[in-house]
Amino acid sequence: MPERPVILTGFMGCGKSSVGRKLAESLRLPFIDLDAVIVADAGKSINDIFASEGEAAFRARESACLERVLREGKAVIAGGGGVVVADSNRALMRSRGIVVNLIASLPVILGRLKGATDRPLFSEKDASIRVAALMEERQQFYADADIRIDTDNKSVEDVSALILKILEGLPA
Ligand code: S3P
Repeated sequence: MPERPVILTGFMGCGKSSVGRKLAESLRLPFIDLDAVIVADAGKSINDIFASEGEAAFRARESACLERVLREGKAVIAGGGGVVVADSNRALMRSRGIVVNLIASLPVILGRLKGATDRPLFSEKDASIRVAALMEERQQFYADADIRIDTDNKSVEDVSALILKILEGLPA
């Protein structure tokens, strides 16, 4: 079992927060939701940050919060879907933690995101085309991980147990 933070990455709606909470509980570690840290820090919602400051400012906040939580010691951290895009974020995550990428298929993602109003990069309009394009664009960045798990047809408990088993097999 590695003595480093575990960071969950993956597209919006792939289950990072639910799996992260479960995994943290099993490992008896704190669970940190990076989006929640950004919101607390900014004192406004993700939607408000995007609307009033723009995406670039959100990404700067995201990188700063990532740096900070990775310094706080061992924890299970759920990143936002776009945290993998910046090279510097990926380098930081790979060097300081164990990166676990959760994979879900387009239909599963679309099903989970249906009706979402708290994700500025998602809209119901042309959802399938836009989501597919963004997934494709980010594919190479999600692949930059220590562990990759296909979550389709698996429960939160199944995915968490699978990650736990793999982590237990890794050197300290
Ligand atoms: C984003 C994903 C969101 C949030 C923000 C941007 C993205 O997090 O960070 O809306 O760029 O994919 P979730 O993946 O938790 O929805």
